[in-house]
Amino acid sequence: MKTAPLVLLMMGSDTDLPVMQEATEILKKFDIPYEMRISSAHRSPARTLALASEAADRGIKIIIAGAGMAAHLAGVVASKTILPVIGVPMPGGALNGVDALYATVQMPAGIPVATMAIGKAGAKNAALFAVQILALAEPQLAAALVRYRTEMDKELEQKDAELQLR
Ligand code: RP5
Repeated sequence: MKTAPLVLLMMGSDTDLPVMQEATEILKKFDIPYEMRISSAHRSPARTLALASEAADRGIKIIIAGAGMAAHLAGVVASKTILPVIGVPMPGGALNGVDALYATVQMPAGIPVATMAIGKAGAKNAALFAVQILALAEPQLAAALVRYRTEMDKELEQKDAELQLR
């Protein structure tokens, strides 16, 4: 039987997939069950609203929403749920993600969206942030996050050591 998803990853278009896959790599690494859905605030508003409003009842704990250009997805999703919503602005378009960044981060008071960086770094951090939220109630997950950071530190130390040999 498939494990029920804890994180819902939403994106406005299949063209967002290569960026959003950065998030799935992290969720896989920490063994967090997730579900990925393509649904747009503009092109499929009814389905987007339904996904957002039904998420909590399905056992979802956190929603990550990635969208580009006039990126309303994260805000619209946040308007229909009290689950934490993490927004990832997609790169691309004439403004290369700056439009999506402003659209996602500049939420009017009352409906928050935790906005990450534009693109792959933001998608990766969105997943890590989701793991950090889940770790508040899961000591094993907190320990795994500490190990992840220790690994990062070791890798940099190794690269530094190699640089000194050049
Ligand atoms: C947004 O419009 C999507 O999230 C995507 O980043 C952007 C462009 O979509 P496509 O025209 O590539 O489908 O809704």
